[in-house]
Amino acid sequence: MAWSTRIRLRTAVVLTAVAGLLAASAQAAPAQFVTVSNPVISQRADTAIYKHTDGYYYMTASVPDYKRVELRRATTLQGLRSAATANAFVAPSSGALSGWIWAPDIRFYDGAWYMYFSASPGTARFDQRLYWIRNTCANPMSCAWSAPQRFTTGWESFQLDPASFVNRGVRYFVWAQDSPDTNFNSHMYIARMNGATGITGTVTEIARPTFNWEKEGVAGVVEGPSPLVKNGRVYIAYSASATDSRYKLGLLSSWDNVDLLNPASWYKHPNPVFQTANGVYGPGHGSFTVAEDNTTDMLVYHARDYATPTPDALTDPNRHTRMQQLYFRDNGDPFFGQPIPSTVTAPGIRGQYSNRCVDNYNFDTTPGALVRLYDCSGNAAQEWEFNYKGVSWYEIRNRNTGTCLDDLNSSTASNADVGLYACNGSTAQRWEIQDRGSGWFSLRNVAGNMCLDDYNWNAANGARLSLYPCNGLGAQLWRRG
Ligand code: AHR
Repeated sequence: MAWSTRIRLRTAVVLTAVAGLLAASAQAAPAQFVTVSNPVISQRADTAIYKHTDGYYYMTASVPDYKRVELRRATTLQGLRSAATANAFVAPSSGALSGWIWAPDIRFYDGAWYMYFSASPGTARFDQRLYWIRNTCANPMSCAWSAPQRFTTGWESFQLDPASFVNRGVRYFVWAQDSPDTNFNSHMYIARMNGATGITGTVTEIARPTFNWEKEGVAGVVEGPSPLVKNGRVYIAYSASATDSRYKLGLLSSWDNVDLLNPASWYKHPNPVFQTANGVYGPGHGSFTVAEDNTTDMLVYHARDYATPTPDALTDPNRHTRMQQLYFRDNGDPFFGQPIPSTVTAPGIRGQYSNRCVDNYNFDTTPGALVRLYDCSGNAAQEWEFNYKGVSWYEIRNRNTGTCLDDLNSSTASNADVGLYACNGSTAQRWEIQDRGSGWFSLRNVAGNMCLDDYNWNAANGARLSLYPCNGLGAQLWRRG
């Protein structure tokens, strides 16, 4: 074959491959409107959800009497509410596991199912120790689990809240444990796993209570590690303070390319990232998963619907499982926002000053139709799909029009119009989440370099929305809800 023909053929092959890649990248990554009816599961706390390659969500949690390791599965998150349950382990009437069983976790490692949990003797219900059980069936609901075996950490003391994750092919185990060096209830530790049933090498402390908001109602609590590997970072959300309305989430951050066993690799954010608000009390100890589109990140947590648990913060059974979308702010860190109340199933973009929602006014489908403020209703005009398109920005699509929130004409003039236009990925439709504290956020438009603004601080129905230089004031503060 002549060289010229060979070159032409090779060129054709390369061009075909490139075309295929371009076509694939041009296909919008799946996303979805996130609607959740909270609470999703009543009286299930410390909820762990693991989405498996078989398409099922596997869920376990603490149960009110702390006497079982319960498992359920469903193909949708809402489906977990009514899913059948199975007991992977039931506490015996005596012995080392006859007391309380807390905070199971479920993982699929090396071709088998594993559940990790803490348990205590009936004679000393707080003397918790870590255990593991295994199930080799494809569907772990369908056959028996092995008998519990100790998961040893290297020293004997109150230990709880097992979790694990994989980063760059290395499996890590994280947990909370009482340290002999302090009077705090718990510190947080990480170690590499040895297979699926133990740890090996260095045990590193990555957090201990240092802030007052970690010591409310207790000597000091950092527990409930929830790992998330995203955007080249490794995050561990954790729970702090007493398990009443003072319970809240904190956040540890590291990088996916550093030594995670070096304490200096971890940064603890100085403020809580998720806490009581909107009639949701003591949110904490959950896990992360993805929605049914396998793309949209979801936060799973428990909370109560009232402030004062009775008879106490542990034996009050009404910590219910709740879920909502997890966002990522402009620097790529997770942004938790505020708990969404039980009355909201289709969260809008609600203004702090107006307490009204960003609305496709009059259901106007005309290209360029302006968005305005209106009473929050949860109808399609106020439903927005936050489609995470890159480390720092979202495309925000309206359910009624199917079009995207847009800095019309990519204006950079103060008080510019904001409307809806065919989604095109342009910078006029790129919105960055700015963390403004206490779960409030601003939306900065990339083209205009300005923030979504309640123009003239007008709280009335039909009030105009605009873009204005970002100032963090109430007219530019929003929450999902
Ligand atoms: O829910 C039981 C225990 O209470 C969990 O293990 C811990 O996270 C919380 O303090």
